[in-house]
Amino acid sequence: MTRKIVAGNWKMNLDYSEAKVLLKELMAKKDEFNAEVELIICPPAPYLSAFAEVLKDQEWIKLGSQNNFFLENGAYTGEISPTQLKSLGVKYGIVGHSERRNNFNEDYSMLSKKVRALLKVGIIPIFCCGEQLQVRNSNVYKEFIMKQINDSLFKLKPEEIEKIIIAYEPIWAIGTGKTATSEQAQEIHHLIRTRIASQYDEKVAGNVGILYGGSCNAENAQELFRQQDIDGGLIGGASIDAESFLTIANAFE
Ligand code: 13P
Repeated sequence: MTRKIVAGNWKMNLDYSEAKVLLKELMAKKDEFNAEVELIICPPAPYLSAFAEVLKDQEWIKLGSQNNFFLENGAYTGEISPTQLKSLGVKYGIVGHSERRNNFNEDYSMLSKKVRALLKVGIIPIFCCGEQLQVRNSNVYKEFIMKQINDSLFKLKPEEIEKIIIAYEPIWAIGTGKTATSEQAQEIHHLIRTRIASQYDEKVAGNVGILYGGSCNAENAQELFRQQDIDGGLIGGASIDAESFLTIANAFE
C-alpha cells in the first residue's frame, strides 16, 4: 500500500438541503476520521461553491469534482472548466467514470484531454477504469482494462502520472451490491501497478494511488483495503451515509 485514500462519489444524488445535512454530519465526525487517510468528497457540481466556503481552511477533507471539460473557457454552454473548479478550491477530479463513458460516449481521447486539463491546473485526476460483466466472463478482461489505462494515461510524463489516482471499478459491481472479491480486485490492482512499473519505473508505480470501487461498503472495506495493491476506495452509495463513510475511511489496518 502506498497511499490511503477514500473518496466519496455522491453522483447525482441528494437535493441541496440533504447534501448540506450530510456535509454537516461528516463535519461533526471530523475528529473520528483516521487523520492518515486522504479523504475526498465529490458532491454534485452545483454544491461545490458553497461546500468550498464551508470547508475553507479545513484540510482534513478535500473536494473533488465528478466531471470537467478539457478547455479553459469559451462558448461551451453547460460545461465546467478545470480553471473554474480550481478557483473554487477543488483538489481532485473524477474522470472516465463508466457512467460517463456509457451515457455520454466519453472515449479514450476525450478522457486523455480531460486528465491533462486537470493536471495543467494542479487538480489530481481520479481516473476510472473497469470492465462490463460480459468482458469479465470472456477472459480478455485484463487486456481490456489495461487498454483503457494505456490509451488515456501512458503518454503522460512520469512526474504527471505519479500524481494520478486510478480507480478500478468493475461495472458489474457498481451499484449492484455484488462486490469484486478481494482476490479479483487485488489481481487487477497488481496488474495495473506492474504495467505502470514497466512503462515507467517502480518508484512511479509505487506513487500512483489505486482505488477499488463497486459496492464497497462498511462491511467489506477492511478485507479489500488489506490487499497489498489496494490503496483505498472510490465509494458510491455507501458514501452518502456519514456513518458508513466514516467506517470505510477507518477500515485501514
Ligand atoms: P457504488 O459504491 O454505489 O457501487 O458505486 C461505485 C462507484 O461508481 C463510485 O464511483
